Amino acid sequence: MRINNRSQQPEKPRFTPLQGQYLAFIHAYSLVHGRPPAETDMQRYFRVSPPVVHEKILALERKGLLQRVPWQSRSVRVLVAPEDLPILRESPAKPAADEEAEEPDPAKEASAPGGMIDYDRMAAEYARHRRVHPVLLRRLIDGLGPADKVLEVGCGTGNYLIAIRELVGCSGWGIDPSTEMLAQARARSGQVQLLQGKAEQLEFPDGHFDFVFSVNVIHHVGDRGRSFREAVRVLRHGGRVCTVTDSEWVIRHRQPLSVFFPETVAVDLARYPRIHEIRAGMQEAGFAEVAEETVEFASEVRDIGPFQDKAFSCLRLIPEDAYRRGIERMEKDLLAGPIVGVSRYTLVWGVKPSLSNHRGT
Ligand SMILES: C[S@@+](CC[C@H](N)C(=O)[O-])C[C@H]1O[C@@H](n2cnc3c(N)ncnc32)[C@H](O)[C@@H]1O
Repeated sequence: MRINNRSQQPEKPRFTPLQGQYLAFIHAYSLVHGRPPAETDMQRYFRVSPPVVHEKILALERKGLLQRVPWQSRSVRVLVAPEDLPILRESPAKPAADEEAEEPDPAKEASAPGGMIDYDRMAAEYARHRRVHPVLLRRLIDGLGPADKVLEVGCGTGNYLIAIRELVGCSGWGIDPSTEMLAQARARSGQVQLLQGKAEQLEFPDGHFDFVFSVNVIHHVGDRGRSFREAVRVLRHGGRVCTVTDSEWVIRHRQPLSVFFPETVAVDLARYPRIHEIRAGMQEAGFAEVAEETVEFASEVRDIGPFQDKAFSCLRLIPEDAYRRGIERMEKDLLAGPIVGVSRYTLVWGVKPSLSNHRGT
């Protein structure tokens, strides 16, 4: 038990009231259920998004108030003595916005409850403005043939899945939790199978696919370890996976996003997992030959409609005055000519080991 000399000066609490509630929740949940909560349990209780919960857990860990095993679900353990924990309050009816402000939390300015991006609400803008990254598309179709079965996890409006199906002639399946994003995808193509679902629970038989990929989705996934295990399960032996995301470097060097809206950098550094975490998660799930590469595509931005319509989710997570400042600067710069754009993605590849590798022969 922690020594707390109450007879002298009362010790200053080492955690904020909201952090205290997280600790109290983890403690109470563990007592009642006999196992620690998953981050999804905390999301439900505090009515916040996956990145908000994850950041809270990391902050508590940094302060030495809890212990966890990275990538292992239900591994949090409170390091504060039970008698020093506050009483757990009822689950808030809505996210406690003023208390979130106790800690700088870049995701707190979200347009949807709890900092979560509501893709149902932004589906129309996404469909209107977001297109494939041509270099990424070329890399994704490399090695694919008409006989292949391809799954896109978090296919959204179908940008990549539909293009791959059209270019390669393969069979394509897409899953996404958002009804409206899927509706946009269905309106574009009847050639791919589109199902509502999440990366963490893929409703497909074992070994069904030759290639499973996701683009710009992994930072939305609540339980990444589980999603990688699901990807391993639904792939055939020898099948490939590709997790396409933004590395820390890519986030810091986005053009024009990070130039005109520098506040998006902190927001996205808090939301996106680091590449080494993705690599480790994929390896832990059973993928072999895990390797990364970055693709780049330069363009000229003449139309700032996608920025005005906030078709990039991070623009919905920065304060409105920062957003307006960025738009004004863009409008001014455009008067002098097109704005330089460089779009990059980091791809993390992996292979489900073949059966012979499994047996060590
Ligand atoms: C930035 S969009 C990317 C859409 C598409 N991959 C593209 O690049 O055009 C992110 C997508 O991830 C989906 N998403 C959010 N959480 C998810 C989860 N747990 N599993 C699968 N998809 C998820 C959202 O609904 C949204 O359509």
